[in-house]
Amino acid sequence: MHRNGPDIAVILASGLAGADRQGEIMSIKAHSRRDFLAGTASAMALTVFGTGELSGVSAFATPSMPSAGATKLVPYGAAVRSDALAADPSYRDAVIANCQMVVPESELKWLELRPTQNEYRFEKADAIIDFARQNGIEVRGHTLAWYGALPPWTESIATRAEAERELTDHIGTVVSRYRGAIPSWDVINEPLVDWPESAASLRPSIWARRLGADYLKIALETAAAADPDAKLVLNEYDVEFTGPRFAARRKALIQLLRSLRDRDVPLHAVGLQAHLFADRAIDRDGLQVFLAEIKALKLDVWVTELDVIDYELPGKIGERDALVAGVASRFLEAVCEVVRPKAILTWGLSDRYTWVPTYFKRRDGMPNRPLPLDAELKRKPLFDVIDEFRREV
Ligand code: XIL
Repeated sequence: MHRNGPDIAVILASGLAGADRQGEIMSIKAHSRRDFLAGTASAMALTVFGTGELSGVSAFATPSMPSAGATKLVPYGAAVRSDALAADPSYRDAVIANCQMVVPESELKWLELRPTQNEYRFEKADAIIDFARQNGIEVRGHTLAWYGALPPWTESIATRAEAERELTDHIGTVVSRYRGAIPSWDVINEPLVDWPESAASLRPSIWARRLGADYLKIALETAAAADPDAKLVLNEYDVEFTGPRFAARRKALIQLLRSLRDRDVPLHAVGLQAHLFADRAIDRDGLQVFLAEIKALKLDVWVTELDVIDYELPGKIGERDALVAGVASRFLEAVCEVVRPKAILTWGLSDRYTWVPTYFKRRDGMPNRPLPLDAELKRKPLFDVIDEFRREV
């Protein structure tokens, strides 16, 4: 999947919050997450904060705020876009108010970082990291070894040695640059073909073609060497539904994880992308067995890209939003009964900015509604479902 992003480097408006304010900021965020969209006073304080004025923050950091207990919640986060953060203050405020974590939607992919072979363009990723730091938000990195969003020049990588050199240079450079700023990385993204026969059924990419299955080990070891403290994640999709293709994917993925573990390849967690479809049933038993196997391998679980693809659902908004929330609830319930995810992230925060219509446009021409906030940044039932499972696990 390729993307034509804007070429301009984006510098975000800077609201400087020193490290000494982080605790205060976290408690503001814990409070405001519930109240922001209800239009309460704290939401207004955060609007001020988002534009870089700190005067509103301390006014709301009163002892009566319910900050205690906030740490018990599973962190919630979303994929964000640097261009929208720079251009759309209401979106930026909603991210600040709702997210404890963000992941750049495209800015850390090869296509953005490496437009030509000899350059690294970090401006857009840096802008997101600065924004996150200023607002006490953690950043995840996505992604280092994927078949998608590769710049065209990578097609001319002709030999095994060249592929290894490019992959290790890239991962070493990017992960060490953000050491300390990005504590978890989707190192491997979508390694399996759609209907795998085994762990050997790797999705074709320049990395798999030139390096075979070794690309997984090379990528993970390079990331671990560049930042020994980073949590390294293998991220995959289509593992939660009922049907033989999804069962085959779960089986192949467990085999793949086991072979990495058996060889002591550094890996800490599995990312469930969770691009759900409201018309596909969640295989509760299959998913729970799969998660128990992951747990037995001593790997953590992250929910990395949750959204609900609604292109074939009824147009009526109330009905559609309820179906979307329902499938997310069935998924999160199955997951949270077996593991406590390290975080729950959605692939975007608001329906205003979502990848879904690029690939799953509705036939009736109505906008997609896959995310927790609608296009006006109002909470939808999906928001409450996520909130519920953040508390209950
Ligand atoms: C998508 C982005 O949202 C789009 O903007 C881009 O054009 C293509 O990639 N699984 C992933 C993400 O791991 O990287 C994808 O993101 C969505 C599917």
